[in-house]
Amino acid sequence: MKRDLISIADFTRGELEEIFSCAQRLKADRKASWPHPILAGKTLAMIFEKPSLRTRVTFEVGMVQLGGAAVYLAPPDIGLGTRETVPDVAQNLSRWVDIIMARTFAHQTVVDLARHATIPVINGLSDLLHPCQILADCLTVIEHRGRLDGLKVAFVGDGNNVVNSWLNAASKFPFTFALACPAGYEPNAEVLTRARQQGAQVTITQSVAEAVRDADAVYTDVWTSMGQERESAMRREAFKAYQVNATVMAQAKQDALVMHCLPAHRGEEITADVLEGPRSVVLDQSENRLHIQKAIMVWLLR
Ligand code: CP
Ligand code: NVA
Repeated sequence: MKRDLISIADFTRGELEEIFSCAQRLKADRKASWPHPILAGKTLAMIFEKPSLRTRVTFEVGMVQLGGAAVYLAPPDIGLGTRETVPDVAQNLSRWVDIIMARTFAHQTVVDLARHATIPVINGLSDLLHPCQILADCLTVIEHRGRLDGLKVAFVGDGNNVVNSWLNAASKFPFTFALACPAGYEPNAEVLTRARQQGAQVTITQSVAEAVRDADAVYTDVWTSMGQERESAMRREAFKAYQVNATVMAQAKQDALVMHCLPAHRGEEITADVLEGPRSVVLDQSENRLHIQKAIMVWLLR
């Protein structure tokens, strides 16, 4: 049966470990300039309802490095759900290409694509989840700390798609996830409940100090996610006490990693000195999008 990557929750810990190992091998090969045309002749279709730098470039370059090709479908190109229904798009693409990546507004859109496609579908970010990002982030933490187990990852800011995927990851690996967010900006209740039922160690507080205390990594993301632009003034006000700056970092472990999925808004959710400081691993996270997504494609097409 074909598999998709819609949510980290759909994978076992063992499967995720296989993907991490594959990414590490592909990364080492790449550093040694060893070609690895594992997906020669394969084609990836990339559907974007929202803008992107990292996701677009890393999927496209990743497929080329694996010996295949990628087709970029920009937001106005296909009119997903307007010019043509989601099932029709999924069924047509399934006749031409081998794998689909989609970045959507409604999470249901990527779920429906996967349901109607006969080929694997990868969630490249929806309003609800951003699984590829968090798998790249977990790989980054493992590279810097040697493990995820037993660590404390603190997140300061909005309980958004990135946070929801961290909750899913916390249900697969025994690390603590501590979120500091203002009231009303908590993560998706269903995702949180499911993660806790599956053993995730999660704390949610309005206190930044409490969340970052003894943290091994401090993560933040934009206050206004794509699609929420009309709320940005209100959000700037709601989140003003939730900035990752030098004072906040001083409350975490001395060598705590600074993490951000990017793009960043300097002076809002994070200060420039912290984003660009010696503890920042944001470019490692960004690089690892390439390696982990190559591993995801290889795994799904194995
Ligand atoms: N982090 C991330 O997904 O970046 P893009 O929006 O540029 O793809
Ligand atoms: N939460 C952000 C992540 C961007 C990569 C958004 O959805 O816009």
